[in-house]
Amino acid sequence: MREKSPETHEEKLDYLRDLRDQAINSASEEAIEKHHAKGKLTARERIDKLLDPGSFEELDTFVRHRTHDFDMQKRRPWGDAVVTGHGTIEGRKVFVFSQDFTVFGGSLGEVMAEKMCKVMDLAAKVGAPVIGLNDSGGARIQEGVVSLGAYGDVFVRNVQSSGVIPQISVIMGPCAGGAVYSPAMTDFIFMVKETSHMFITGPEVIKTVTGEEVEFEELGGAMTHNTKSGVAHFASEDEESCLEDVRYLMSFLPLNNLEQPPYFPPTDDPDREDPELDNFVPDDPNKPYDMRKVVAMIVDDGEFFEVHEHFAKNIVCGFSRLDGHPVGVVGNQPAFKAGVLDIESSEKAARFVRTCDAFNVPILTFTDVPGFMPGTDQEWNGIIRRGAKLLYAYTEATVPKLTVVTRKAYGGAYDVMASKHMLADYNIAWPTAEVAVMGPEGAVNIIYRKDIASSPTPDERRAKLIADYKAHFANPYSAAERGYIDDVIEPRETRPKLIKALRTLQTKRVAQPRRKHGNIPL
Ligand code: HXC
Repeated sequence: MREKSPETHEEKLDYLRDLRDQAINSASEEAIEKHHAKGKLTARERIDKLLDPGSFEELDTFVRHRTHDFDMQKRRPWGDAVVTGHGTIEGRKVFVFSQDFTVFGGSLGEVMAEKMCKVMDLAAKVGAPVIGLNDSGGARIQEGVVSLGAYGDVFVRNVQSSGVIPQISVIMGPCAGGAVYSPAMTDFIFMVKETSHMFITGPEVIKTVTGEEVEFEELGGAMTHNTKSGVAHFASEDEESCLEDVRYLMSFLPLNNLEQPPYFPPTDDPDREDPELDNFVPDDPNKPYDMRKVVAMIVDDGEFFEVHEHFAKNIVCGFSRLDGHPVGVVGNQPAFKAGVLDIESSEKAARFVRTCDAFNVPILTFTDVPGFMPGTDQEWNGIIRRGAKLLYAYTEATVPKLTVVTRKAYGGAYDVMASKHMLADYNIAWPTAEVAVMGPEGAVNIIYRKDIASSPTPDERRAKLIADYKAHFANPYSAAERGYIDDVIEPRETRPKLIKALRTLQTKRVAQPRRKHGNIPL
C-alpha cells in the first residue's frame, strides 16, 4: 500500500494499475519456481489454458483476508489464495475458480470460500457450469474453525447445484481431509498423474493410527483413484492434456439441466452401414471381443470419450455422438471378466446413467452380460443393494433409452441393462443375441439333473439337452415374440436404426409423480 493517497486522475489510474499488478503477481518468484519445478502450472496459467483466449473476466481481485491470529495481518495478499471469474469454452459460458498454491499453500479460509461461493452462486443463477481447479493444503490452519465453516458453505452449494449445472473438479495438487468432499459431490473428477493427490488422512496420520506405511502416490494418486477407489473419472499425463480433456468433456454437456447438450453438424453419414459388424461377435459364446470396437463402428466418426476408463473395466461408459447429438454409452465388456455385472461395475454405470439423465444426454446401452457375479465376496459386500443402484438408475432415467443386445442377456442382468421392462424406449437385438434366464449349460444342469444322472450315457444326454435348449431359448426370438425386443436387425444396420429411433425420441416427455425425491439404495 502507498504511503500517500493518490489525488489526481492520473495518480488514481496508476494506483489502480499498480494494485492490479500486485494482485496478479502476488506470489514470490521463488514460490512460482518451486511450483513449476514440480511440473505444475500456476493458478492463472491453468485458467489461460482452460478457457478460450482472452475470455476470462476476473472477479474479486481485491479481496483480502481479515485474519489477525498468528500475525496474519502482516501478510494480506490481494485476491487471497484463489483466482475466480468466468469465461468461455468454445464460446460457451463457464465459471471457474483456481486455487493458488503459491499463496498460503492454496489453503481455504473465510474469504477464499466467499470468492468461490460467489462464482458458484452466479453459475447457479445464470445456469452455467462450474469448473474448480483444486490445489490446496486444505483448511487454513491460522483461521481455525472458521475455515471448516467456510468449507461447509462450499459443500452446500455443491449439493444445491447438483443436477442443475455441471460441476467439474480438476485436482492439480494436494486435496486433503474433508476438502475432498467438495470434489466428491461434483459430477466429474480429473486428476493428473504424479502431481495430484486426494486423501482423508495423509501418510503420517495413517502411520500413527494404523501403523501402515504408504507413500502419497500409492495412497491417493491419480491412478489409485482411477483404478482402485473409482473416486476419479480421468487420469492425465500432465496438466495441459488434463485441461484439454476438460474442454473436450464440455462438448458433450449442456450448460444446465434445462438445456439440450450441444449439437455439432455431423460429418458421418447417418445411413452408413458397417458390414464388418455382421461377423463381429464370435460364434463361440465364451470368446471375448472388445465392446469399445462395436461402439466405435456405430457412433459418429468412431468418437468415444471414455469415462472411468481404468475402473471396473467389465463395463464401459463414455460419451459419443449419433447424428451430431451427444449420447452416453454404457456397454458390458466381454473382454474383461466376461462382462459380468459386479458391485463396482454396477456402481460405475449407475453413476454414469444418472449423470446423463440429469443433463439430458440420451443413453445408448450395449448388452452382452452373463449375469451378476456369484460368490461370498460379492454377496457379503452388498451386491444386492449395490447392484440395485444400476437397476434403479436405469429405471428412473427419463432421457431416451436405446438398447442393443449383441449376445448374452441372461437373468436379472438382462432386466437391469436397460431392458424394455426397465422402461427403455427402443430395444433391438442382433441375431447372435441370447435372451434367457441363464446360459444353456447352467440351465440344463439344473432342470435336467435327475434326467442326466439316470441316463446310461450322461455326456451324450447332456449335449442333446443343451442343443435343444439352445434351439429353444438361446436366441432373441422368444423375447421378440413378446415385444420385449422391438426388432431383430442385421448388425450392419445398427447405426441407421439407432439414429432413426433417436430422432423419433427427441421429443420424449415423461410425467413424474409428485414426491420429494426417490430413495436410491446408496
Ligand atoms: C495454512 C498451509 C496449509 C494449511 C500448507 N500451507 N497447508 N498454510 N494452512 N492447511 C502453507 C505452508 O505453511 C507453506 O507456507 C506453503 O503452504 C507450502 O506448504 P509446504 O508444506 O512447504 O509445501 P509441500 O511440501 O508441497 O507440502 C504440501 C502439503 C503440506 C502436503 C499440502 O503443506 C501439508 O501437509 N499441509 C497440511 C495439509 C493438511 O493436513 N491440511 C488440513 C487438512 S484437513 P510458506 O509460507 O512456508 O510458503 C482439512 C479439513 C477440511 O482440510 C474440512 C472440511 C470440512
